[in-house]
Amino acid sequence: MKIAIVNGPNLNKIGQREPHIYGKESFEHFFEGLQKSYPKIEFQHFQSNHASELIDALHGFDNVCDGIILNAGAFTHTSLALADAVAGLQTTAVEVHLSNTLARENFRHHSHLTMYVKGCVQGFGLESYRLAVASFL
Ligand code: DQA
Repeated sequence: MKIAIVNGPNLNKIGQREPHIYGKESFEHFFEGLQKSYPKIEFQHFQSNHASELIDALHGFDNVCDGIILNAGAFTHTSLALADAVAGLQTTAVEVHLSNTLARENFRHHSHLTMYVKGCVQGFGLESYRLAVASFL
């Protein structure tokens, strides 16, 4: 099984950025552990701070992976282009957020992506990604 994890803007800073919200562990460190937990899954990880690169990555992973886990960061709330890319996917996608966006500022309450994904896991820190992986098993 192949699962792609696509991370959007500022998620390269997990572990350093607002640790009271996003935690102190880097994504890279978490990702190593995740790969060890699921040795039979072939994981891909792509991160970009640019919407166009994220769209290209989604197109590239579509029909190549068995599942796509997407944390689009703030583009979740703003990018119709990214929403269109998710809507067009044939591979099942799951939306992930480290924080519980519904418990935060109003501008984080709406996601342009949720209506196009199978489900959304949020609020469990980096464990949100692990729960999303479990949804594909
Ligand atoms: C986030 C939530 C977004 O609102 C925010 O812009 C992020 C991170 C999360 O994982 O909790 O960058 O996607």
